[in-house]
Amino acid sequence: MSSSIRDREDVLRKEYDADGVAENYAGPRWEGTQHARRTHRLEHTAVKHFLEASGPLSVVLDLPCGTGRFGRLLKLHSPKVLQMDQSAAMLGKVSGPRGQAAVSKIPLASDSVDVAFSFRLLHHFRESFQRSEALAELARVSRRWVIGTYFDRDSFQALRHRMRGKKRNRFPQSKQSFHNEAELAGLKVVEESYVARGVSEQVVVLLEKTECSQGVFEVIKKTETSSVECRNLADGCSVFVKRYTFPKMLRRLEAAFRHTWRGPSRAEREFFNLQRLREAGIPTVRPLSFWVKRDSLGFVRDSWVATEAHDSPDLEAYLHSGRKPSKNFIQALEESVAEISNAGVLYRGLLARNVLVTDEGPVWLDPAKAVFAKQSQSITSANEKEFRKELWRLGLA
Ligand SMILES: C[S@@+](CC[C@H](N)C(=O)[O-])C[C@H]1O[C@@H](n2cnc3c(N)ncnc32)[C@H](O)[C@@H]1O
Repeated sequence: MSSSIRDREDVLRKEYDADGVAENYAGPRWEGTQHARRTHRLEHTAVKHFLEASGPLSVVLDLPCGTGRFGRLLKLHSPKVLQMDQSAAMLGKVSGPRGQAAVSKIPLASDSVDVAFSFRLLHHFRESFQRSEALAELARVSRRWVIGTYFDRDSFQALRHRMRGKKRNRFPQSKQSFHNEAELAGLKVVEESYVARGVSEQVVVLLEKTECSQGVFEVIKKTETSSVECRNLADGCSVFVKRYTFPKMLRRLEAAFRHTWRGPSRAEREFFNLQRLREAGIPTVRPLSFWVKRDSLGFVRDSWVATEAHDSPDLEAYLHSGRKPSKNFIQALEESVAEISNAGVLYRGLLARNVLVTDEGPVWLDPAKAVFAKQSQSITSANEKEFRKELWRLGLA
């Protein structure tokens, strides 16, 4: 007869609370052999990629945290990390705040973390319904992302175990069954990463909720290779995330022609240009973080830049809604363009869609193409020419 998730949890609690298990896990288990150290390193690489791909993050749940093996990495990606495990002995090895909890009943409100991270847990459950239940509970507390793992039954390692015929209390499964269980739990698989494809059982998975609660994020714009989202993170902050993805080689080559192969990606340029403009006293949205992933040839595959979110509309949207900017605003805009030129910045994007209409005056965004040089007449006239053309187009000149 199949046991409930609670029954299985009781067995696992005893297993991990047993004498010496936590000591072994905190030391020899991951440091004792070259193979263990290599697996530990490869697992960290996969987790790092998924934390970056789902970022920016404000609160992450690590359940089960075990002896805190991923604590340092998680803290590098999120200011707040909640570490939980049902074994008191394992928690005893964790530094910093931690709580005792089982995956079947996580003592957190729904939508309270940005990522629910659950490493090396699901293969402890034999039954499909137990795994779906665990995934559903992780999905409940997460606003959008779950990072999980399962053991792939079609790997060499799993096959070797089967051939040896020994009874095992770790349960590999097929990729399809994992996908079905995720779907049942209201999650879809975004990306899978094999620790050693075909050889190791361990598969690390980034999952996204199929239906997020209202207000978690809003897609502002989406094209084949880019998207803009306003995200409301678990700590209450709102951020704008611009993402540039090039899954196809042709698109990566196109991006490379725009100088991203050897040079910085668009997300990176936008981040640092915003910083430099602000240092020069030009009002812009505040840059928060960026991330770039390149393929083995150095072409940009995926990237994002996050900035603080503003409620104010851009000038283009402002005009479309039938409003007209005040004379003071237009004057402040002209002065701002002069300041940009005085700072030696060729903006290459002085457009209505790149300036917010705020009570404090114009606030610039998207300076990805801006070039920084010494102040010169040619920069001043190029900025003015572009800006005048835009004012004419909008009937504001
Ligand atoms: C293999 S360790 C993984 C720990 C950590 N994620 C890592 O990769 O180092 C499994 C952990 O899961 C915990 N655990 C097992 N079943 C659990 C459950 N139902 N709820 C919470 N924690 C559980 C155990 O106490 C143990 O610390």
